Formats: sequence, structure tokens, C-alpha cells
Amino acid sequence: MADPKAFYLTTPIYYVNDAPHIGHAYTTTAGDVATRWRRQRGEDVWFLTGVDEHGTKVQRAADAAGVAPQDWVDRLVSQAWRPVLETIDAANDDFIRTTEPRHRERVQRFWEVVRDNGYVYSAEYVGPYCVGCEEFKLSGDLVEGSGEFEGQLVCPVHGRPAEELQETNWFFRLSAFSDRLLAHYEEHPDAVQPRSAYNEVVSFIRQGLVDISMSRSSVAWGIPLSWDPAQVTYVWFDALLNYATAVGYGAEPGTRDAELFASVWPPDVNLVGKDILRFHAVYWPAMLMAAGLEPPRRVFAHGWLLVGGEKMSKSKLTGIAPEQIIGTFGSDAFRYYFLRAIAFGQDGSFSWEDMHARYTAELANGLGNLASRATAMVVRYRDGSLPAAHDLTDAEHRIIAALERTVEVADPAFCDLDFSTGIVAVKEFIDLVNLYVTEQEPWVLAKDDQHAGRLDVVLATVCESLRAIAVLYNPLMPKAMGELWDQLGAGGQLGPIADQRIADVARWGQLPPGTRVTKGEALFPRIEEVE
Ligand code: ME8
Ligand code: MG
Repeated sequence: MADPKAFYLTTPIYYVNDAPHIGHAYTTTAGDVATRWRRQRGEDVWFLTGVDEHGTKVQRAADAAGVAPQDWVDRLVSQAWRPVLETIDAANDDFIRTTEPRHRERVQRFWEVVRDNGYVYSAEYVGPYCVGCEEFKLSGDLVEGSGEFEGQLVCPVHGRPAEELQETNWFFRLSAFSDRLLAHYEEHPDAVQPRSAYNEVVSFIRQGLVDISMSRSSVAWGIPLSWDPAQVTYVWFDALLNYATAVGYGAEPGTRDAELFASVWPPDVNLVGKDILRFHAVYWPAMLMAAGLEPPRRVFAHGWLLVGGEKMSKSKLTGIAPEQIIGTFGSDAFRYYFLRAIAFGQDGSFSWEDMHARYTAELANGLGNLASRATAMVVRYRDGSLPAAHDLTDAEHRIIAALERTVEVADPAFCDLDFSTGIVAVKEFIDLVNLYVTEQEPWVLAKDDQHAGRLDVVLATVCESLRAIAVLYNPLMPKAMGELWDQLGAGGQLGPIADQRIADVARWGQLPPGTRVTKGEALFPRIEEVE
């Protein structure tokens, strides 16, 4: 029997204190490309994203707008957070909101289990709390402020002082898990990536873990504790559980939800930005251990999109809306650019100039031009009927071999979330095929009937290469590759592009002679002016 376990990947659930910016779209895009790649390999996949609706930050945003928090989140979710998924072309399987009953009930149940297991007790918390991070800060977490906050300690992410808290609430016995976490990470050195994140997490745990509040007594907007309804669950200890509640944790045995949980748990990848690494690589696995559940196989903390050297942020109002970029370049180019230009795991900056330059060079002139030259020539020289290729030469065998190598590099890279390596591998193949066209000069061959057989070979080679490129780039740029698939006439011969398998992509000669090739719209129309 095949392994029934699905590839389960999550994004963070984003705070609904404001509308999404390209930082949020970046994480969701990466998750979408990774899961589409797995689907293209024929794997079962579950891709979850959603929103984090509770906590002080969201409450204050609603207060400032003069509306009830539930109205605030309802409006933002329907007007901004759900639509952005369509804008970036994400194919998520589910979308969780933390105000949904399924989440609320299962969060309450989870903490009852942890409490019954002896890991929850009442105590007083005194110390700093950053509302921007929704985080109880430890002494080493704060840094010297500057400007307006000169001489004060501030949150390094939000640049402002934390608020002093004093309240009696319920604590999670995190300290009980130091050794188990260290043993877990020693045994699973890939459970936190990239390596720098792993090292940071392990050294944090080695310093010794202190217990942490799991509820708030001075906050109203949240999920009440079942045993003490005057308190709400600390927003992070509600939010992290979305990865379990959304896939049916705590569902009645025998229900579809219970089956889903059994088929996906544990998550293969909890994808996050490095700002929330500690929550995901320390608190989250400890919570799961406390409840007797398996921790995630991998937490991947990617870098930040920067503005003026700092993290782009809703709190600082430095966000660029995804629609701004996608309105000009389209969703495919957006997806391509961010995963191509920034090594996943490192920080990067967006610039219109760089985006425009890569779009023009790599998409419009590179891939787009190859596709339009190939389809136009088959239409012009062969009436749109793909010719049969006889007598391949070394030039063609080099292309065939290069395609095999391309897949050998791209497949492990995309599986490993090393998007730029995977993309560059395909891009180099595209460059090679473009070079082949330039060298073979099919427009010269077309002038002399003596070279008809040779022209057939060249046209078939380029179209077959494009068949493979379309499949390899389909997880990254589904709209344009669907269009290319149509122009090649591949659907009628080989079935939908989504049904093509990565393991089969390098098998040469799949597009049969006689396939109807058409010249359609430019895949990546030239964009002259950028603001
Ligand atoms: O932290 N660059 O939500 P959040 C790259 N609700 N990625 C960025 C980014 C940037 N400048 N800004 C945001 C929360 N992100 C919690 C999460 S999960 C159980 C709860 C992305 O709205 C990145 O993935 O602050 C980051 O980790 C996440 O959005 C934080 O979103
Ligand atoms: Mg944040």
C-alpha cells in the first residue's frame, strides 16, 4: 500500500490588524509553489493558510476604527485577506480563521489535555510585553532605543518600548521540555531550517527555558479558558494551534475531520518568517509534546522583505500591497520574481527597477520569446502541425541530456524549498534552448527545401523542450504555463498540464507529430513604463 500520509504545509496565520502586504504574500506564494510542486510530483497535498484574529493588536486596531473586533476582522478578511489569495493565485486547500467555532472548541480541548497532563498552573506574570509581537519579552530580547526612545529599552522588531504587565494568569510549564526539545533537535538536525535558524533555536533552548503565560487576564478578545472563562488563551497559544485544529485535531473518531488529521499529521513544513521562529521552533513543539502529539517535521524560517534596511511591516505602515505589483506585472511574474531574486532563507529588498529588469530579460525576452518564436515558426513553416523529427544530431542530444540534468537539480531544490536554485536550473535550460535556436537558424533552413528534414528536427526539438519547461514551471507560474500548454496543443495529446508528472518530464518525445500548435498571446508582454 502506498504511504497514505499527505504532504502537509502551512503558512503562518496573519494578524488581521490591517490589510496584507507583499511580505505576507511572499510566504503564501512560497508555500503555494512548494505544494504545487509536490502535486506535480503526484503527491497528496494539504496546503493550509489563514488568519489570526485575536489578541491586543487586533483589538486595538478595531478600537481605533470604532468598530467591534468581530466586525473589524469580518470586514478585513472578506475585503482583503481572502481576495489576496486569488490575486497571487494561491491554490490552498483550506483557510482558517481563529474565530471559527471549530478552532475555538478544539483550542479549549487542547489546553484541557495539557492541563490534565500537569503542565498548566496559576501564577503572577510581571514583565514587559510587546503588543506588536504579542510577546512576553525576556530580559535579553530588548535593545537600546534611538530617536524618540533614546535611553529606553525597545523591541528590536518594532522599535518601541514594550508595555509593563502585571497580571495573574495561567502558565505553561515550558521549562519541563528543555531536554526533550534538545534531544529532538539533536536527532532531527533538519527539523529547523535554514541552518542559522537551527543554531539560534538550539542555543536559545540550551540557555534554559522558563515557564510562560498561556492565558491573559487583562485581555477580552480571545478564546476563553474552559476552566476559567474570565481569562482568554494567550493569542499565540491559540494561534499556533490552528495547524492542528484546521485539520481536525480533537474531532470525533470516525468523522472526516478525524481522518484528515490522521492523514496529515505531523506537518511536513510549518513555513514562517524568521520573526516568529521562537514561537514555532520552541513553544509550538513543546506544546505538542505536552499534549502527546508529534512535533512538525520541519520549521522553515525565511528572511524578510526589507524597506530601507528594516522589515516591511503593517505596524510601521511600510507595506507595499501585492496588487500594486501584480497590477503591472501579473501574478506569475510576482511569484517568479520573489522566489528567483531572493535566496529563500535570506533577506531581500524589492525594487521596481530590479523587478522590471528581470521581467524583461528572463520572462519577456527569455521564456516568452522562445515560446513565441517556436509557435510562430511551426504555424508559418508547417501550417501549425508539429513535424516528426528524424536523425537527431549532437545538438539535439545535448538538449535532451541537459533536460535530464535540469530535472535532477530542480526536483530536490523545489522539494527542499530552495526555490532560486530550482528556478535557475530551468532558466539555464531555457537559455540553452534559445541558444540552440539561434545557432540552428531555422529561418535560414526554411529558405531551402533541401533542409526540410533538418527544419523539422529543430522545430520539434524546441516544442518538446517547451513541453518540459511548461510542466517544470507550472507550479511557479500556473497561468502562463497553462497558456503555453494550450499554444503547444499539448492538452489534446497529453491531458491537462496538472496531470503531468515531474518524474516523467525528461522523457523525450512526448508531443506527437501532428500536434496542433497555435500562436497565441505573448506569455509575458513587454512592459515599457514602470512608475
Ligand atoms: O506573526 N518579509 O502574524 P503577522 C517577509 N499572527 N515576510 C513577512 C514580512 C516581511 N517584511 N512581514 C510579514 C503573526 N511577513 C502571527 C502568526 S502563526 C501561528 C501566527 C510574513 O501578520 C512572514 O511569514 O505579523 C511572517 O512570519 C508573517 O508574515 C507574520 O505575519
Ligand atoms: Mg508581525
